[in-house]
Amino acid sequence: MNVLFVVWENDPFFKLGGLGDIARSLPGALKALNVDIRVITPYYKVSKFGRNKKTKIGSYSFIYAGKSTKVEVWQALNPYTKVIGYFLKNKKYLNVVIPVETWAFFDKAVVELLKTKILDWNIDIVHVNDYHGGLVPLLIRQEKLPLKIMLTIHNLAHQGKGSVDLIKKMGLDPHLCKILQWEIKSRQINFLQEAIIHSDIITTVSPTYAREILTEEFGSGLHEILRGKEGLIYGILNGIDTDWRHTARNPAVRFPYGPKEKRTDGEIEYYNWKEGKPLDKEFLQKKLGLKVDKNIPMFCFVGRLSEEQKGLEILHRMLRRVDQTKFQFVILGTGERAWEERFTWLSTFYPKYISCSFKFDDTLAHQIYAGSDFIVIPSKYEPCGLIQMIAMLFGTIPIAHKTGGLKDSIKDGFNGFLFSAYTSEALEQKVLKAAQMWKNDKKAYETMVENALSSDFSWRKNAKEYLNLYQKLLENKLP
Ligand code: GLC
Repeated sequence: MNVLFVVWENDPFFKLGGLGDIARSLPGALKALNVDIRVITPYYKVSKFGRNKKTKIGSYSFIYAGKSTKVEVWQALNPYTKVIGYFLKNKKYLNVVIPVETWAFFDKAVVELLKTKILDWNIDIVHVNDYHGGLVPLLIRQEKLPLKIMLTIHNLAHQGKGSVDLIKKMGLDPHLCKILQWEIKSRQINFLQEAIIHSDIITTVSPTYAREILTEEFGSGLHEILRGKEGLIYGILNGIDTDWRHTARNPAVRFPYGPKEKRTDGEIEYYNWKEGKPLDKEFLQKKLGLKVDKNIPMFCFVGRLSEEQKGLEILHRMLRRVDQTKFQFVILGTGERAWEERFTWLSTFYPKYISCSFKFDDTLAHQIYAGSDFIVIPSKYEPCGLIQMIAMLFGTIPIAHKTGGLKDSIKDGFNGFLFSAYTSEALEQKVLKAAQMWKNDKKAYETMVENALSSDFSWRKNAKEYLNLYQKLLENKLP
């Protein structure tokens, strides 16, 4: 079974968020199930190949915006999974992201590539991810290529809207596209909407989000179109790598620990989590200039500072209200400037209790997972969320809004805390409850940590669900 995975980021070559991780780990897991899956992305100016060998395997030209335009195809193996990566190079359109034209060009380039023999590989399924590959299904239909198409929605709120002129630049006749007939009045093309309409099957990254996106509240304007596809929409919870990358075996973690008793594994000495975690916490308190005290519960927030998704306003409101000297809060992320300023302002009043770092820093992120007692995930909506799973591998208890993949991976009172109402009060209540447990009911706390440590978030089970759907697609067994 041959699958081309179309996506805009692919770790470690280029990664901005959770999708980059999935573009590495899901194909890796499917390859282990004997799927010949290969990943295609643009070749950006900032793509990093390091010591990974890259080879140019060909070039081709097609008409874009009325001109013959050349694209080079490069190939490199993912160093972790050995999955083949293809990288399309064109200085004008793919070097840096031009919203949204880069995606129109990239999608056209992918489908034009499928018409050549450059890959020397017979594809059965094209698996498109998010709006960046959103016009690939439409182009495949226009070209009448005999391919099955799966779309995975990682975030419905990001849809990619552009001028219909892009359609002309791609050489498509707008009158041939059914959906465009209706959209044409707005003079806008919605990439994700096109993908939803022209794909054979749609998945999203958790069962709860698969239900949520059919509602007006979470449907971002596309719920009606999605409802028309009911029966063809599947929610499959993402997995994470449970190897060294996201565990205390990560070299960034100063005092590696695990669920078991102290032991030596090769060169590394592992602590039991009860000994290791406090040492990592002390290390973090020193590193961040916080008060060094093992009796203060430490909470963290790690993620994109996006107001619309990540729940920053309720986090901020809660932080302003609670007695700051009873907790430590560590914030790591990048994103909206206004939020960076608001959190920084707060931390100036409590420099020994609140620490803010606004950067992308994987080393610090892993030190934070290891050293914190709790991770706060107040997302307004969260298609899947990987951070709660990673944190749990470190025995760090999540406190999260009961939505999307958070609801599907956290059991309230078992391996974390969930709050239902999206308010700072509901969040605060759980934070206080968690701190109370941590201080006064060590037994309950330890049981919860152990439940978190033994929760299985690997791809082992869920990659098979993708494989099943691929099989159904090929055998035409869909409703
Ligand atoms: C998007 C979603 C996030 C999900 C990730 C990977 O970033 O916002 O919830 O975990 O994609 O699917």
